[in-house]
Amino acid sequence: MKTVLITGANKGIGFETARQLGRIGYMVLLGSRNEVRGRYAEIILKDEDINAKFILLDVTNIETIRTAAGFIEKEYGSLDALINNSGIYMDNGIPPSQIDLSALKQTFDTNFFGVFAVTKTMLPLLNKSTEGGRIVNVSSGQGSLSRNGNLNSTSLLQLAYNSSKTALNALTIQFAREFKETPLKINSAAPGFTATEMNGGKGIRTVQQAAVVIVRLATLDKNGPTGGFFDDAGEVPW
Ligand SMILES: NC(=O)c1ccc[n+]([C@@H]2O[C@H](COP(=O)([O-])OP(=O)(O)OC[C@H]3O[C@@H](n4cnc5c(N)ncnc54)[C@H](OP(=O)(O)O)[C@@H]3O)[C@@H](O)[C@H]2O)c1
Repeated sequence: MKTVLITGANKGIGFETARQLGRIGYMVLLGSRNEVRGRYAEIILKDEDINAKFILLDVTNIETIRTAAGFIEKEYGSLDALINNSGIYMDNGIPPSQIDLSALKQTFDTNFFGVFAVTKTMLPLLNKSTEGGRIVNVSSGQGSLSRNGNLNSTSLLQLAYNSSKTALNALTIQFAREFKETPLKINSAAPGFTATEMNGGKGIRTVQQAAVVIVRLATLDKNGPTGGFFDDAGEVPW
């Protein structure tokens, strides 16, 4: 049975991604920084006959990441897919010149450094995948410099979130280039503006719609792309 680790899988887009991958037969490892929320997510998915297992994982806490990797190694031996889904949004309408340095740093800790730490720690397990590991970085169209990059852009003014996703896209590119001669594939996904707790339910897409592109990139066959940025409609400009 194929294995997938999803960070921030206890709710929102991550939880729905777990459900969709579970339905097609994956063993879904539900990363959650909160034990109660993670165990609850596991119970819901098991009730739906999905193979799910909660794993304590705070992407800003390297000890939990290392412990999670040790557990996966012992129980499953390898990892077929990693979905770096955890993310936070702290801008809340505060313009770039007014945002606190601490909010900027916290956002990067989760949305960028956290992804790096999880990816680096899980790579040996992904490289043991028999069909080649898949990494999906859940980014955002708000991180696209092409879309942000003119003075009349309709992208939102949110320095912390947008720049953390731009940096995440750079990470996707760098890792994809390093591993381009291996079976590993690493891509960024843009799920679109989706109703979740992150935006107080204001998003216009459902989590079911948002998860589709993530699932597609997690299940790419050996001819699939690497080092790309995709939404439902196809490629997103960097
Ligand atoms: N919703 C949108 O419109 C939208 C659009 C584009 C991209 N995205 C991206 O999609 C991803 C999922 O967002 P969402 O909309 O589903 O938001 P959400 O419902 O707020 O879920 C975010 C998840 O990330 C987890 N998380 C936050 N900090 C963490 C940490 N330090 N360690 C581990 N987990 C952590 C949360 O855990 P807790 O429950 O413990 O807080 C939660 O499980 C994010 O990367 C987001 O940037 C969302």
